[in-house]
Amino acid sequence: MNIILLGPPGAGKGTQAKRLIDAYGIPQISTGDMLRAALKEGTPLGLEAKKYMDQGALVPDSVVIGLVKERILKNDCAKGYMLDGFPRNVSQAEALDKMLGDLSQKIDHVVCVEVPNEELIGRLTGRRTCRSCGAGYHVMFDPPKKEGVCDKCNGELYQRDDDNVATVTSRLRVYDEQTKPLIAYYEKQGKLRRIDGVGDMADIFARIKAVLG
Ligand code: AP5
Ligand code: MG
Repeated sequence: MNIILLGPPGAGKGTQAKRLIDAYGIPQISTGDMLRAALKEGTPLGLEAKKYMDQGALVPDSVVIGLVKERILKNDCAKGYMLDGFPRNVSQAEALDKMLGDLSQKIDHVVCVEVPNEELIGRLTGRRTCRSCGAGYHVMFDPPKKEGVCDKCNGELYQRDDDNVATVTSRLRVYDEQTKPLIAYYEKQGKLRRIDGVGDMADIFARIKAVLG
């Protein structure tokens, strides 16, 4: 099963992806995580991407399309995968359709997680992530037992560089202008599954499972 997780910054795509990996045994392909990993390694691609990410802008299509093209050919994607944060505009969606057509693959479901903007800002500015294992937390909604320390591996928790109010505001605007048109794009293809992304994380997961079957 091939899935796209669509939704604004802070909708809970990463949070729900972690649960979906365990339930369906398919990998999460997050272009945001891949770009942050490239930056951490100090590759030219990572350093170039940082300029855009820090402003809340989209990284050029050619960069992310190239990353996804390479990633979906890996062995662990043979039984399916979940795209998180890709595609993010219509030209990426068209490139994905072309790429999958060439491989005789297709997207089965586009899970669109809907959360109002007022809630997204609080979610993003309070997000913390483990530097070692990548586990996600929120200072109020999902706090670690000990402040700044990962429950799972004792790693250090950090705040993403793009989770400040100014950058979050641009990310939300970019979502509205460039990514939202994908809702109509996939509705037209009959693949869109709208999910209410407000409420308990476990309840939202149950809503997603109900549409995926
Ligand atoms: P990316 O990393 O994809 O960020 P994003 O789309 O902005 O989404 P987030 O990761 O911020 O949100 P999420 O939905 O995963 O939320 P989470 O589960 O963590 O992209 C970053 C940047 O990379 C982009 O701005 C762009 O520059 C670049 N980029 C990436 N892909 C690209 C592409 N395809 N093309 C071009 N550029 C690209 O949850 C957030 C917080 O809320 C957490 O603290 C969590 O604990 C909490 N939370 C989750 N669910 C709930 C709930 N139900 N109730 C309360 N709190 C909750
Ligand atoms: Mg994410």
